[in-house]
Parts: sequence; C-alpha cells; structure tokens
Amino acid sequence: MIELLPKVELHCHIEGTFEPELMFSLAERNGIELPYPSVEALHEAYQFKRLQDFLDIYYQGMNVLQTEADFYDLTMAYLERIHKQNVRHTEIFFDPQGHTDRGVGFAVAVNGISNALADGESKYGLSSKLIMCFLRHLDQESAFQTLEQAKQFKHLIAGVGLDSSERDHPPEKFAAVYAAASEQGYLRVAHAGEEGPPAYIETAVDTLKVHRIDHGNSCLENPQLVQRLVERQMPLTVCPLSNTRLCVVDDMKNHPLKTMLDKGLKVTVNSDDPAYFGGYMNENYYAVKEALSLSVSAIGALAQNAIDASFADADRKSALTNELSSYMQSVSG
Ligand code: ADE
Ligand code: ZN
Repeated sequence: MIELLPKVELHCHIEGTFEPELMFSLAERNGIELPYPSVEALHEAYQFKRLQDFLDIYYQGMNVLQTEADFYDLTMAYLERIHKQNVRHTEIFFDPQGHTDRGVGFAVAVNGISNALADGESKYGLSSKLIMCFLRHLDQESAFQTLEQAKQFKHLIAGVGLDSSERDHPPEKFAAVYAAASEQGYLRVAHAGEEGPPAYIETAVDTLKVHRIDHGNSCLENPQLVQRLVERQMPLTVCPLSNTRLCVVDDMKNHPLKTMLDKGLKVTVNSDDPAYFGGYMNENYYAVKEALSLSVSAIGALAQNAIDASFADADRKSALTNELSSYMQSVSG
C-alpha cells in the first residue's frame, strides 16, 4: 500500500539527494575532478559511524554544484524520483552557506532550486516549499549575513531551519537570528535531538519558537518533555533510514517511531539525505512498516500527520487530506 499512498515529505536536504551518477556527470560538465575513481568507489565511502562522518562527505559532494543549471538538475532529479513514489507535496532544505562560503552565489542556488520546484508543480502537480537552513557549526553572524542575502528572495523561501553538527551547537546560539527571521515573516524549524540531548529540543521550542522539530528522537529520554510535545502536538520529522545509517539507532527493529506514535507524539516519516542513506520516501515507509509491524491505519496516521504539519496553505492541505482519505478507504474497505 506504500507505493500508492499519497505522501508528504517535510525533511529532505536537497544537497542530500545528490546521487553519485549525477555527481559524476555534473563534475565532468564543470571540469571538476572528484576524489573517487568511480561511482562504486563513492558509494563504498558511504559508511558512517556518526553524523560528522556523513557531513564531511556531504560538504565535499556539494563542491560539484557550481551553476544555476546544476541546482536545477539536482532538484528536478529529486522531484522526478519522488513523483514516481507518489509524493504529493515536499518541503526541502538547502544550505546557502555551504555554497556562498565557496564562492557560489545565494542567487545561483535559490534560483536553480526554485525554478525546478515551479516546473515540478506545473508538470506533476507536486507542490512544495523551500526552507533555508543555517549551518550551526558556523557563528550567528554568518547566519545573519545569510538572512540578509535572502531578503530579495523572500517570496521564494517559506522558512528557516538549523542543521549540520549538532553536538556542542545548541539552538540558543541562534536565538537572535531566529527572532529576526520570525520578525521578517519566516516560519521556523530546527534539527534537534538527533545526536543532541533533549535539552536542545526544549530550547528549539522555547527559544527559537519552532513550528516543527527535525528528528527529535532524544525527547524519549525526558518524559516531561514528551508530555509537553504531545500537549502542543509539536510535529517531529523523523528520518528512519538516516537514523540507522548514522548510528542514532542501532537497528531498525529498535527504532523509536512506534513508541513515539503510541505516546501520541505527532511523528512523520522523511528521507533526510536519500542519496546517502539508502532510500527515498517509499523505502523509509517500508523500512519502519516491516521492522516495527506497523498497521495500515498507523501508516495512514503518519501520512496525515505530515499533511497537518506541512506549511501548505489550507486549500492544499484539505485537497491532500481528501486524497489520502479516499486512498485509505480504498485499501481498508
Ligand atoms: N545536514 C544534512 N543532513 C543532516 C542531518 N541529518 N543532520 C544534521 N545536518 C544535516
Ligand atoms: Zn536533516
């Protein structure tokens, strides 16, 4: 039932959709030599013990992206794939500082990505939102510069997020830039509780005033926090294959997703960096369905949570809800 389930994705880094084949072809187009002899050798390097192992390779991969056409092709390849998986709405992240810090302009990235998103909507009816993330291993001053660069593209960017190395970079480091972003009308999300402690989830909620937490796994270590997140119905964008690949969870059978659902947390399923972690939305749904024996109605609840937690407007949410409910009737009835 997963293939045809109408799905919404809320946590996917567009730079993390860079498949090795496309990376090699764009490297050739740009006259860049990759530090790997072949697609296979690159694949083999994707063995991570922790988040930082992955980030080192992820930033290296990004270096290949130079032109607006590169960002367009990257984004369009992702949209084509998820369209085939019946993803109906997606909210993608991009890391502007990962590009501007190596001399590729903010406009190059944002225009390439946005043009593909617009074409994806007209070609496939696949709606989307774009969220720019601040890199948390950099300082707040750099995040402020990014917010400033975004000003003339405000109409293309729905919100701000926070990603990269979580340990020792608590959300409150970015309190002022989130306050400024909020003032300017950006919606807010932040990675918290992936490798970091539950306290980072608390400060993301209380200090950054986020609408969603990206990951949030470590909330289960603090029952009072779980209770608060349940009371507020704070969405958590959980990424199952990412969690096992980055050793946040040792085995999919021990993934906390079902426990989270049973506790009443508003959890959703997402792919994070699908080119690096072994799968897009369907593979993530399959992995948890199989490992945790999720029922058809649990899968439906996860899909509905993602619609509710999305930044789509009310009409789009209601259309997506109708589409999902017709599908759920057809499979249960
Ligand atoms: N950037 C890309 N993927 C990420 C992840 N899973 N956690 C933090 N930063 C990221
Ligand atoms: Zn992420």
